[in-house]
Amino acid sequence: MKKQASYEIKKNQSLAKDIFLMTLVGPMDFSPKPGQFINIKIDGFYLRRPISICSFDEESMDIIYKIVGNGTHALSQMLPGQKLDVLCGLGNGFDLSLASGKIVLVGGGVGIPPLYGLAKELKAAGSQFSAVLGWQTGDQAFFIDEFAALCPTHGATNDGEIGKKGTVTDILKELSYDYYFTCGPKLMLKAVHDLGGNGQLSFEARMGCGFGACMGCSCKTLSGSKRICTQGPVLRSDEVIFS
Ligand SMILES: Cc1cc2nc3c(=O)[nH]c(=O)nc-3n(C[C@H](O)[C@H](O)[C@H](O)COP(=O)(O)OP(=O)(O)OC[C@H]3O[C@@H](n4cnc5c(N)ncnc54)[C@H](O)[C@@H]3O)c2cc1C
Ligand code: FES
Repeated sequence: MKKQASYEIKKNQSLAKDIFLMTLVGPMDFSPKPGQFINIKIDGFYLRRPISICSFDEESMDIIYKIVGNGTHALSQMLPGQKLDVLCGLGNGFDLSLASGKIVLVGGGVGIPPLYGLAKELKAAGSQFSAVLGWQTGDQAFFIDEFAALCPTHGATNDGEIGKKGTVTDILKELSYDYYFTCGPKLMLKAVHDLGGNGQLSFEARMGCGFGACMGCSCKTLSGSKRICTQGPVLRSDEVIFS
């Protein structure tokens, strides 16, 4: 269910280099699903900024974001007590009913947050799963302990500061799994997809309008172009075409 409402910032704290966790308090009756995202109106910016829901309860939701430009920088300057206009319940989210056997969650950078809500749901369902999390550098790493509390967790960094020196696919090649859920930069999604097998990929495409009008976020699939904002962000591995 889509919803537009005002949310109060309860917490906005640094987690790692350029990475922030924000807790938003407000109406949570839109039945959030892991993999869905919100679209935040930031004062002074025309376009809303899409950010995945990391986790939620009856009163609030957590998001984790990286400062990459002016919008996310402005967000990082906001203080507890300030309010944000938020569009909620966007995107299809992950479809757990398609997964079976040994599941692996594969996250890269700020693709990791939506997988945390998914991990909590898989744990509650008694599923067998593990997580492979990757960052460019160790100083950007976050949520290793939070994932490790839910499942066997492997980390990889390009600089080797945390976990294996290399990429998430270096770890995946050594693991046996039947199904994957992945979110992260497009190059990482392609590398995971290229390893084969079945799974679901969540895209963090650059967006324009955010409501299906501009095709700015489109992704090639076997059934034509799909808009990440309205038909994603999650697509099945057997429909995606990487060009
Ligand atoms: C469905 C979805 C979920 C997302 N979830 C998260 C999340 O949980 N946490 C998070 O930190 N980010 C997430 N993003 C990305 C986030 O929306 C952008 O980083 C943000 O909008 C950038 O805003 P800005 O004003 O700071 O940067 P801008 O000034 O708009 O851009 C600054 C730089 O970042 C690049 N950039 C902007 N948007 C993206 C993007 N989507 N992907 C890659 N590069 C981009 C630009 O090309 C430019 O180089 C998500 C995106 C989508 C589509
Ligand atoms: S952002 Fe315009 S169609 Fe998706």
